[in-house]
Amino acid sequence: MLAARYTAPVRQSLRGATFARSWTPCTAQTASRFYASGSQDKVAKFKGQKGSDGKYLVSLIEGDGIGPEISQSVKDIFSAAGAPIKWEPVDVTPQLRDGKTVIPQESIDSITRNYVALKGPLATPIGKGHVSLNLTLRRTFNLFANVRPCKSIQGYKTPYDGVDTVLIRENTEGEYSGIEHVVVDGVVQSIKLITRQASERVLRFAFQYAEDIGKPKVRAVHKATIMKMSDGLFLRTAREVAKDFPNVEFDSEVLDNSCLKMVTDPTPYNDKVLVMPNLYGDILSDMCAGLIGGLGLTPSGNIGDECSIFEAVHGSAPDIAGKGLANPTALLLSSIMMLQHMGLYEHANKIQSAIFAVLAEGKTITGDLGGKAKTHEYAEAVIKKL
Ligand SMILES: NC(=O)c1ccc[n+]([C@@H]2O[C@H](COP(=O)([O-])OP(=O)(O)OC[C@H]3O[C@@H](n4cnc5c(N)ncnc54)[C@H](O)[C@@H]3O)[C@@H](O)[C@H]2O)c1
Repeated sequence: MLAARYTAPVRQSLRGATFARSWTPCTAQTASRFYASGSQDKVAKFKGQKGSDGKYLVSLIEGDGIGPEISQSVKDIFSAAGAPIKWEPVDVTPQLRDGKTVIPQESIDSITRNYVALKGPLATPIGKGHVSLNLTLRRTFNLFANVRPCKSIQGYKTPYDGVDTVLIRENTEGEYSGIEHVVVDGVVQSIKLITRQASERVLRFAFQYAEDIGKPKVRAVHKATIMKMSDGLFLRTAREVAKDFPNVEFDSEVLDNSCLKMVTDPTPYNDKVLVMPNLYGDILSDMCAGLIGGLGLTPSGNIGDECSIFEAVHGSAPDIAGKGLANPTALLLSSIMMLQHMGLYEHANKIQSAIFAVLAEGKTITGDLGGKAKTHEYAEAVIKKL
């Protein structure tokens, strides 16, 4: 019996596709670029506008567990730094509608209206038939790229000093397309879907991002040596997109080679933006987080054409929730990525410098970093450094 299941983005990709012998959707072979070249057609450009009070409205999903505590630190620090942000609280408690996990319409409307959201960690209810809320948000807003910068934090000793990597992961297809079926009992098949359209979108975003953050080198990480058609298409598309960015150097590297080299010495990757298909990005981004001391300090941005959502990579830490022990650094660094996305570089730099100064001093840091400070004491120390 054939039991196939398709996720929403994949259904979109597959619509109108004709499966030939190769199982390659015709869109991948024939579609021409859907982004025009040139800076006027910027991928995922922030479209929000300041209100009459001179502030941008940002949807805030405080999240579960330690979420409200670390969100409070962000609010206090932003307010002290005079960041032109007004928070709009959003509740994403999941609802089951027709057997599907959905988030409340008001929260979708808020994020759609504001084009940007900051999100605390969300706990996934176990055994209640819910799909992960993070996945639901990713699908609802078609967040096609996941951006994960990993920068060593002075004062927090890890095996390597001076790590400063940026990884961009394609977030909608590849190995995570969800096209799996049982061929016969004991034999299953999982299809990796790569389309030119999704590849071009994330690659174009990666080149833009590299220009924006002043790291004018992009490296595509792939396995086209083995997956000649799927990763081959990703790589060919990368080479084509590179032609539209003459000021950005482009090269490529096979995934296993990247892994070996990065754990041997990550610093040669500091001047590059790495971009890759979904599964490779999932694994390599956590590996990079490991190089700087784990997920607890890692920020991330989920980028969509219309809306983008910034979040810490760690979970809701139910074991320490409500005790004032949580470290808000990852959410703070995610909020800094958000400010950069919104073009508010001055405020981003000011807050980031204050955070790094407090961490480097090492006097007022939270328990996970070896200190004794409570969440609010750390936030107060950051405010003093602003
Ligand atoms: N992005 C997200 O929303 C996200 C990511 C991962 C897990 N989750 C959810 O979070 C819940 C708990 O997951 P988990 O326990 O596997 O992972 P977790 O990240 O919540 O916790 C792992 C360990 O790290 C510690 N920790 C995490 N963040 C910390 C912080 N900011 N400061 C200090 N210590 C911190 C915790 O105390 C715990 O000991 C689950 O429901 C899971 O589904 C959500």
